[in-house]
Amino acid sequence: MKALGVVLSAAAVVSAATPDLAQFVNAFIGTSNGGHVFSGATLPWGSVKAGADSLSGDNQAGYVSDGTNITGISQLHDDGTGGGASLGNFPFLPFTSTECANNDLTKCTVDHDLRAIGHGDPTASPGYFSIPLNNGVKAEVTVTQHTALHRFTYPSGTNQLLFLLDATSDLSGSYQGDGRVTVSPNPTTHGTRVTGSGRSTSVSTPPTFVQAKYYQTSGSLKYTNLRPTATFDREIQNNNPAGVLFGFSPGSATTLSVRMGISWTSTAKACAYAEEEIPDISAFDAIHAAARAKWNDVLGTVQVDATGVSADTQELFWSSLYRTYISPTNITGDNPLWTSTEPYYDSFYCIWDSFRVVHPLYAITAPTTQAEVIRALIDIYRNTGWLPDCRMSLDKGFTQGGSNADSLLSDSFVKGITANIDWETGYEALVKDATVEGDFSVQGRGGIPSREKLGFVPVGDTSDNPPNEGPNTRSASRLLEYAYNDFGIGLVAKGLGKTDDAAHYFNKSGDWFNIWNPNATNTGFKGFIQPRNANGSWYFDPRWDLNNIFRPDHCSPVFGHNDCFLNPEGGEFYEASSWEYSWYVPQDMAKLVQAIGGPETFSSRLDTFFSAGFHDIGDEPGFLPTYLYNYVGQPAKTVDRVDAILTQFYNTSLNGLPGNDDSGAMGAYVVWSHLGFFPVAGQDTYLLNRPYFPNITIRNEVNGAVATIIASGLSDTNKYIQSATLNGAEYTKNWISHSLFTNGGTLEFVMGSSKNSAWGTADADLPMSLSTGGFL
Ligand SMILES: *[C@@H]1O[C@H](CO)[C@@H](O)[C@H](O)[C@H]1NC(C)=O
Ligand SMILES: *[C@@H]1O[C@H](CO)[C@@H](O)[C@H](O)[C@H]1NC(C)=O
Ligand SMILES: *[C@@H]1O[C@H](CO)[C@@H](O)[C@H](O)[C@H]1NC(C)=O
Ligand SMILES: *[C@@H]1O[C@H](CO)[C@@H](O)[C@H](O)[C@H]1NC(C)=O
Ligand SMILES: *[C@@H]1O[C@H](CO)[C@@H](O)[C@H](O)[C@H]1NC(C)=O
Ligand SMILES: *[C@@H]1O[C@H](CO)[C@@H](O)[C@H](O)[C@H]1NC(C)=O
Ligand SMILES: *[C@@H]1O[C@H](CO)[C@@H](O)[C@H](O)[C@H]1NC(C)=O
Repeated sequence: MKALGVVLSAAAVVSAATPDLAQFVNAFIGTSNGGHVFSGATLPWGSVKAGADSLSGDNQAGYVSDGTNITGISQLHDDGTGGGASLGNFPFLPFTSTECANNDLTKCTVDHDLRAIGHGDPTASPGYFSIPLNNGVKAEVTVTQHTALHRFTYPSGTNQLLFLLDATSDLSGSYQGDGRVTVSPNPTTHGTRVTGSGRSTSVSTPPTFVQAKYYQTSGSLKYTNLRPTATFDREIQNNNPAGVLFGFSPGSATTLSVRMGISWTSTAKACAYAEEEIPDISAFDAIHAAARAKWNDVLGTVQVDATGVSADTQELFWSSLYRTYISPTNITGDNPLWTSTEPYYDSFYCIWDSFRVVHPLYAITAPTTQAEVIRALIDIYRNTGWLPDCRMSLDKGFTQGGSNADSLLSDSFVKGITANIDWETGYEALVKDATVEGDFSVQGRGGIPSREKLGFVPVGDTSDNPPNEGPNTRSASRLLEYAYNDFGIGLVAKGLGKTDDAAHYFNKSGDWFNIWNPNATNTGFKGFIQPRNANGSWYFDPRWDLNNIFRPDHCSPVFGHNDCFLNPEGGEFYEASSWEYSWYVPQDMAKLVQAIGGPETFSSRLDTFFSAGFHDIGDEPGFLPTYLYNYVGQPAKTVDRVDAILTQFYNTSLNGLPGNDDSGAMGAYVVWSHLGFFPVAGQDTYLLNRPYFPNITIRNEVNGAVATIIASGLSDTNKYIQSATLNGAEYTKNWISHSLFTNGGTLEFVMGSSKNSAWGTADADLPMSLSTGGFL
């Protein structure tokens, strides 16, 4: 009876050298209002993500701060996703016998929805989650990499400690059958082991127990009362919901500890993870302390001097950084699909979201992980034939737009991420994306033959070979992304010494201009990205471009905001308007400035874009536009714009995110914006706004180099850069490159209240563009 009655009192131990950054993390930001943030317990990139599941339509990440009841505390989750809920496997739910009619344990309510129970406010911190349930039981959970350790504290006087293991339910109802639950004595470990498996996932739970009841909630009910040494092995019949209800004689104990190892490959491995990672199931507090220490370690590559910075800003910053490290999940060594010595990461949900901000962040704050991610992506290419866009639960998901793994790879390549990466094979994967058409709804690109012929992807393209199985939409936004993906391929080609290839792909990156309609007009501005027909004529969507007047505001927050998703009716722009996509030429902003009518028009057009409501910060294409004033030498306007966005749309409330967090993408936008620079993902450019801390250091965990960013005189009013030095030499460019983070160094800003300083405004200070000789 080792599991019973053990209550440890050791507090988390934090050494002086490692600041307890976890204290600033509020895990509940974005758990309402569609943020879909995972608030439960996990390690950085942890395989196991354990937390409560709400009976809510918004439960993509399990727990939702909307007051709905709890169906269980499950072991696996994704973070911040749109689409349908995923994972949520193997929930536990502690019971008291009062929930079973007449105290009859064969009459407890175990059905997934019916068992949902009310609760009080949960608490959470990195590596820990706890929730008081209305039956008086407090449920807590902490984690190691592959194992969750649960602790249930029952009300004193409880005559039987009960908890349910639901073997078949998850958040999406994905159970496919072939399940079994086995309870067997295992005296060498902790009394009795329970294992279960079902098709595509497997699980082990080794709690000690005195009594277990196997149930099926439809079909023929089967209960088995067990003595401590008894065994049963049940096949789950007819795919019916099934599980085990455990009952413990409490003696004087009110606490029950249960560990659950999770493996994607085998039951034996799940048990091994549980036993190796948590040898002592009574050591909840020590496991919790180790999880917190791991988080402090990972968070601690960034350090800030918070003098003069509000507690709220610190909470926002660290909570946001924390969320960028939840996904993807590192399941290296536990990949059932192929045998490889390369790392394996899952839950890229989706790269369309994360390539812009999350993976560039890893390049400076977690380059070891980023190198493993790149290796995993290249290994996915080796074994499946393609780089992924969305890939989760070991399977392909729907490609959102372009083949943006290309830009994810080029970003790391140009930033010198090399550790054990086979970049030649990486390059092969990039070229395949650009040249070989697959089923572009799940991999690669569509419309390759048409683009070859026409220079763009036409509306309703029929050149796809093999025919695409998904919606053949998004022709305009996909072309913009393909063009920019090609630019990234060009950068990698150049770096690998493939000069001809580089020239070819840089040239193809100019294709965006083939769908630039210089005559399209809206709100006084001329020139927009507009879809085209295969015969070259401009396309007007009869549903909203009435009288052949193109509506570049369609899909923006002010007109048809919800029309542009991944469905057959989705139109030619994905999750943003032409107004917003018409800024997306990061390879050649100088040419875009000219196309728009010069710097002054570009600047006032940006002003209108924000003031007229065309901008959508709740979706990832809206991130980069907030920094684009730098391309016309107006960095002070970037400062004001980012400031306004942060104030209006990001805060520490439960509803403090403007959209799905998308595996930490929203969090990463907040992090970058506070650090004072923002990545133009896919290339070696960071656009400067201004730091929100007077002193920031970022330690390169690979070589120990330290980049220090100092904002002298920073205050709420002194928020504009007046002058700057880089390693002591005057620095006037309104952008920086990655060398600061590979070599270390000090970037020092003198801050002031004047918006009119000449700093960063000259032509020579502008970020690179292809047409003005950049990148070549
Ligand atoms: C929530 O659970 C409580 C018991 O804790 C129950 O009384 C209530 O009906 C449940 N609410 C819903 C909407 O299921
Ligand atoms: C990923 O998991 C593997 C296997 O457990 C481990 O060796 C590696 O260090 C992990 N990577 C990170 C960044 O934690
Ligand atoms: C790409 O190459 C073609 C053929 O040489 C040329 O006509 C076109 O202008 C080039 N495009 C760009 C953007 O350089
Ligand atoms: C723009 O309009 C002018 C005048 O009608 C026309 O000559 C030109 O071909 C148009 N350009 C495009 C790209 O449609
Ligand atoms: C071009 O194609 C579109 C769409 O099929 C069609 O409506 C239009 O009439 C065509 N224009 C010409 C000049 O053929
Ligand atoms: C917090 O952010 C959310 C999401 O952007 C917004 O709806 C809400 O108004 C903000 N709350 C405050 C107090 O600013
Ligand atoms: C900035 O922080 C670094 C690291 O904490 C420290 O060494 C340095 O003295 C600080 N500089 C200033 C000017 O505060």
